[in-house]
Amino acid sequence: MANRPIGIFDSGVGGFTVLKKLIKILPNERFIYFADSARNPYGNKNTKLLFKFAVEIIEFLILKKVKLIVIACNTICATCFDELKIMFKIPLISVLEAGVYATIRSNGKKIGIIATENTINSKTYENKILKLNSKLIVKSKACPRLVELIENNVYDNEISFEILKSYLKYFNNDIDVLLLGCTHYPYFISQIKNLLLDKIKIIDPSFQTAFFTKKILKNKKILSRFDKINKIQKKIIFYKNCS
Ligand code: DGL
Repeated sequence: MANRPIGIFDSGVGGFTVLKKLIKILPNERFIYFADSARNPYGNKNTKLLFKFAVEIIEFLILKKVKLIVIACNTICATCFDELKIMFKIPLISVLEAGVYATIRSNGKKIGIIATENTINSKTYENKILKLNSKLIVKSKACPRLVELIENNVYDNEISFEILKSYLKYFNNDIDVLLLGCTHYPYFISQIKNLLLDKIKIIDPSFQTAFFTKKILKNKKILSRFDKINKIQKKIIFYKNCS
């Protein structure tokens, strides 16, 4: 079991931002990444459909004999993580739980959240953060156009800068922390930094997701026993749904 790969999925390339951190924190592990590109974006689909997509992908990854699955999609975590957890025995890691934890630990008092429409409308981030600290002020903004820019590889130009600017204007720089509540958004990190005051801390939940994953693997005694990845075994296997 310990030497099986870790499964990870997202609606597209957003989860790569999480995969990158996982590779850094867990250098001896192997990964199977599933990108549901044909059905991207998830941010505007209904919960029933998202649940169906997630079940299909998790079943696919289980068939590939993964030992644990990282759900590198905030939209899935915000809308149906609890149901998925009940349905499957395999350990599931939520990028959203990691985001909540990292936000609370930041000690910020005024929290800004940017995410997909579904994630914002679900209020899952907001409710979980306020449940842990009801004194915090949480402001949330859906940013529906950002995922498409990343998926089309146009995220570092004037157009993306202007779109980001119009979304971030909502916070008026009156926040201490900005939580990136979509795994696609770290692609914009340098543009976001340019649009916010220096004092505003940006939280990318992917770091915490990687730490949580390590902790669960350790607790379950299923950390890979490979010292180095055997050359014959691929470090990352990538599946893309293009149909
Ligand atoms: N990257 C995903 C998330 O974190 C999904 C974005 C989308 O497909 O709309 O929410």
